[in-house]
Amino acid sequence: MPLLDVRDLSVVFRRKGARPFAAVDGVGFSVQPGQTVGLVGESGCGKSVTSLAIMGLLPRRGTRVTGEVLFDGSDLLRLRPQELRDRRGRDIGMIFQDPLSSLNPVIPLGLQVAEVLERHQGRTRQAALREARALLDAVGIPDPARRLQEFPHQLSGGMRQRALIAIALACKPRLLIADEPTTALDVTIQAQILTLLKELVDRSGTALVMITHDLGIVAGLCDTVNVLYAGKVVERAGRHDLFADPRHPYTHGLLQSVPRLDADRGGRLHQIRGSVGDNIPWSEGCAFAPRCDRVNDACIGETVPLEPTVRGGALRCTNPVAQEVPA
Ligand SMILES: Nc1ncnc2c1ncn2[C@@H]1O[C@H](COP(=O)(O)OP(=O)(O)O)[C@@H](O)[C@H]1O
Ligand SMILES: [Mg+2]
Repeated sequence: MPLLDVRDLSVVFRRKGARPFAAVDGVGFSVQPGQTVGLVGESGCGKSVTSLAIMGLLPRRGTRVTGEVLFDGSDLLRLRPQELRDRRGRDIGMIFQDPLSSLNPVIPLGLQVAEVLERHQGRTRQAALREARALLDAVGIPDPARRLQEFPHQLSGGMRQRALIAIALACKPRLLIADEPTTALDVTIQAQILTLLKELVDRSGTALVMITHDLGIVAGLCDTVNVLYAGKVVERAGRHDLFADPRHPYTHGLLQSVPRLDADRGGRLHQIRGSVGDNIPWSEGCAFAPRCDRVNDACIGETVPLEPTVRGGALRCTNPVAQEVPA
């Protein structure tokens, strides 16, 4: 049984005077215990809204969430608020993009880590602070005893993100959701944080949902990748298949726009033409059709279904990029 099984998840925002907007539109994916699964796509495609819906963190007013989020067999969308709060932090941890806004600026770091341990694991303050120190050490924060006394603004961006990873992992969750955890950091620090994250989840057997717009991150980290476009999964494949043989023209375009060290010097990077503003509604065809080089009549008129592929993934496309024939 999967640890997390998201089924037909939709999030519709309704605001006065505006048409209802489906930021997430029938998304499904599953995560096995210990597995690392990627959610990839351009900014605005619904990655964060998906993760917030899973965690029950979306505002209730003006938001309609439907579908199922089965964690260990029970539907998180139907838990009472108290039960859900217990699950968060204990069974499911989350790391956000911006480490500064996720930490409380007026509380010393040590107390923020300790608080999680006190609340969810019933530790005493003393024991929690001792463990907080060990956790900061484990995520590579030098001189943890001193750092425990410090406030978030006294730490660098990389150190703050390490601290958030420590908080997220404090209760040894079975699932960690990381939403663009390194986007706000320098490239050199990014690599360190990703390596750390990978080591920690491998060592502890924690399953990881890695949310990113950066295919380079997915390449190094994920077992399975879900590519999102305008609120829907358009392609799902194992990491190796996705990189060797992207079938959806959107995935193909994303891969071609990643800089490669082995490319000719002076060559231009590929761009996907147009922007998400050109999308057509899914009910009228493939939302990506107006930007797609392979568009044909079948792409317009009715929603294109997500269909299983022979290699065990899924694809939502009527005219996929031809599969390379092995030599
Ligand atoms: N609270 C909200 N109310 C209305 N629209 C929202 C809200 N939150 C996000 N959106 C919209 O939902 C879409 C998906 O957003 P998001 O999940 O944040 O994208 P990303 O893939 O970059 O994380 C965007 O068009 C965004 O403007
Ligand atoms: Mg986001």
